[in-house]
Amino acid sequence: MAEHAAPGPFRTRITELFGIRLPILAAGLQWISDASYVSAAVRAGTMGFITARSFASPDAVRDEIRRCRDLCGSDRFGVNLSMLPVPQPHERMEELVEVIAEERVPFVETAGRNPQLHLPLLRQAGVKHMHKVPTLRHALSAQKLGVDAVCLVGAEAGGHPAADLVGTLVQATLLARAITIPTVIGGGIGTGEQIVAALALGVDGVAMGTRFLVAEEAWAHRAYKERLVAADETATALVMQSLNNTSRALANETTRTVAQMEREGAGLAELMPHITGKLGRAAYASGDATHGLISLGQAVTFADRIEPFAAITARLEEEIAAALARLDAQRCDAASLA
Ligand SMILES: Cc1cc2nc3c(=O)[nH]c(=O)nc-3n(C[C@H](O)[C@H](O)[C@H](O)COP(=O)(O)O)c2cc1C
Repeated sequence: MAEHAAPGPFRTRITELFGIRLPILAAGLQWISDASYVSAAVRAGTMGFITARSFASPDAVRDEIRRCRDLCGSDRFGVNLSMLPVPQPHERMEELVEVIAEERVPFVETAGRNPQLHLPLLRQAGVKHMHKVPTLRHALSAQKLGVDAVCLVGAEAGGHPAADLVGTLVQATLLARAITIPTVIGGGIGTGEQIVAALALGVDGVAMGTRFLVAEEAWAHRAYKERLVAADETATALVMQSLNNTSRALANETTRTVAQMEREGAGLAELMPHITGKLGRAAYASGDATHGLISLGQAVTFADRIEPFAAITARLEEEIAAALARLDAQRCDAASLA
């Protein structure tokens, strides 16, 4: 349940769909989005999603869902089901969907692959389903499939933007004009001014990942968060374009090695020892981010302080209020011009 009783600054189709105070989704972050992080996001008036593939088995996901329910004091949180990298047989995606349905989790964020296979069970369980995509074409397909909301991410995003790198400003405009179901834009968003701008473009909410990595409730080592606080908008690198799997990550030894290997024609098998998710997890644990493909977006430049999740959203709200006041002051009142 949200800690703030006061109404939020906006009512949109996304605040209504997720029952949240702020039009902000704390998008799934592999390894990071556990019950502690997600419950902090929910208590701060946003919606969070446990990343199911951060856990070793469907039973471990079930335990995390139950832990989240206890920490939230409510059932209102989500699970993220990313299908990138391609799920291996032992990951048993169907079983994960069954766990979500059995545990009556109300919201799911899917990403990375067409979620069609899982739609019947999600629908039957009454789960509200948002699909996240990197291009407008994929957004249109998701709408046709019958999902409840669609999230489009622009080139600035941490994780997997599309290879053609269309920026968030253009993506948001295209999304709002072409899609009739509730819409969410992500990629490079980290301030209240940007949230106001996104809603002005016509979308119903924003998805933020990178900005929240410095939340105290994210379990990553403090040294890693301090590195993020010190980083600016040039701290990321794009790799894996040659494998049709564009990734934006913290620029480090690994992104330099991978880029060099790609230039030399390396394939997935050769790159795997460098890009395996285990290295990213180890970097979060140790605070040494020299190695590992560690997803990170350009919004890291806005991550300026390590503080509780609710303190970040409180500052976002202040920025929203200031941006709206500034706009109001700048508006030409037709009567005064006459
Ligand atoms: C560290 C990190 C891990 C991520 N892990 C996942 C994931 O497991 N599943 C997923 O759907 N998206 C994942 N993403 C993408 C985010 O959910 C979200 O789409 C993205 O962060 C939005 O752009 P931003 O980073 O500019 O805010 C990840 C992003 C980051 C930065």
